[in-house]
Amino acid sequence: MDGAQGFPDGFLWGGATAANQLEGAYDVGGKGLSVQDVMPRGITAPPAQAPTPDNLKLEGIDFYHRYARDIALFAEMGFKVFRFSIAWSRIFPLGDENEPNQEGLAFYDRVLDELDKHGIEPLVTISHYETPLHLARHYNGWTDRRLIGFYERYARTLLERYGKRVRYWLTFNEINSVLHEPFMSGGIATPKEHLREQDLYQAVHHELVASAAATRIAHGINPDIRVGCMILAMPTYPLTPDPRDVWAAKQAERANYAFGDIHVRGEYPGYLLRMLRDKGIELDITEEDRRLLRQHTVDFVSFSYYMSICETATRSALSGGGNILGGVVNPTLEASQWGWQIDPLGLRTILNDYWDRWNKPLFIVENGLGAKDILVQGTEGPTVEDDYRIDYMNDHLVQVREAIADGVQVLGYTSWGCIDLVSASTAQMSKRYGFIYVDRDDDGAGTLERYRKKSFGWYRDLIASNGRSLVDRRD
Ligand code: BG6
Repeated sequence: MDGAQGFPDGFLWGGATAANQLEGAYDVGGKGLSVQDVMPRGITAPPAQAPTPDNLKLEGIDFYHRYARDIALFAEMGFKVFRFSIAWSRIFPLGDENEPNQEGLAFYDRVLDELDKHGIEPLVTISHYETPLHLARHYNGWTDRRLIGFYERYARTLLERYGKRVRYWLTFNEINSVLHEPFMSGGIATPKEHLREQDLYQAVHHELVASAAATRIAHGINPDIRVGCMILAMPTYPLTPDPRDVWAAKQAERANYAFGDIHVRGEYPGYLLRMLRDKGIELDITEEDRRLLRQHTVDFVSFSYYMSICETATRSALSGGGNILGGVVNPTLEASQWGWQIDPLGLRTILNDYWDRWNKPLFIVENGLGAKDILVQGTEGPTVEDDYRIDYMNDHLVQVREAIADGVQVLGYTSWGCIDLVSASTAQMSKRYGFIYVDRDDDGAGTLERYRKKSFGWYRDLIASNGRSLVDRRD
């Protein structure tokens, strides 16, 4: 420990990405299509039913061919860890085959070699909004129990191949988002408005069982592996002190807590069972499901954090807000250019809540500011003067430091989109999060050149000082 107020030795500083937003090469090396490949406008537009060259989204930033140089840039910042996802459809192009695509596996060997060369620890997400499109079309995604078997085969393939060199694994990105974005998150082709809640919760259940199954496989292959769940965290505050608002906020939070509760405690919490009962939902849960959930709980809890939200019992009267999860706008907070409300203290709240509730090590695997950057000519070439991003991250990390001083065990911090990539919600390139600017616009035009932003040097110094260079700007 660096003293009471510091970050622990070995704190894992780094950055986070996802294959579908990063790699490009959507049809190279035997890759099949994933649900993301047919969401040209992210979740802001209804999913297309059939992919055509016109409705394919931006092809990422060509990490597939440029990974070595990109990883060298991460190393220059001193990254200790790099979070990336493996594209399921690169390994199993359709998702239901028996044999994996060797070319896909070889690509991730090369990525891991490169990370190894620089002493960067990999953190792998097995499924990050990338269900193979075939599974969406022919099985209606995770509503079908057979997906558990397909995912198990995929996870086993990865764990057998990389399990000796990758210690940290996440089973599903933002697993709670299935309830809100069934196509993107769960490969469920039925439009949200026609989807029965019964089917939605059954799909959630299948993912939870699949997550436990992957945890079992991982620990069987290498007991040193650490498997985490990944939750979209969004503290929900009551809009007023009216007890009905307080209860409404609690219910909203429980909708997210439930995923951690099941992953950590191995069983459905009473409040969720009651909610399902009240809705008349009867899930198909087998004895084997129960055993898997109970026996194969996670080693740590990871989460994304961008914003907090409010809730009220009289919500219909108020305007909505939120990113993937809904909510009510908090009148006390400022928002990003995309309306995501900025709340550094909310991160300390979440860290404390999760730690108090689960007593498991926590990993912040996404946080950052999506903003429009302007490229300018600097003394050492093109750059971006992104002080707004530095301030955002500085203030959030000050709260992480506070949480650590509160006694919370935090394994690491990987900022989202450490290199500019395609936005998940809007499929825009102009919603940039990176320390590294990528020359590509919303129409896919640009040289794909990489340029260091001002935040690049800031993050490098922060990592080098293990967080000591943070500035407490609170009043
Ligand atoms: C999270 C996702 O919801 O937020 C990422 O895990 C996503 O895939 C990130 O990119 C930021 O959201 P957006 O919509 O700004 O890209």
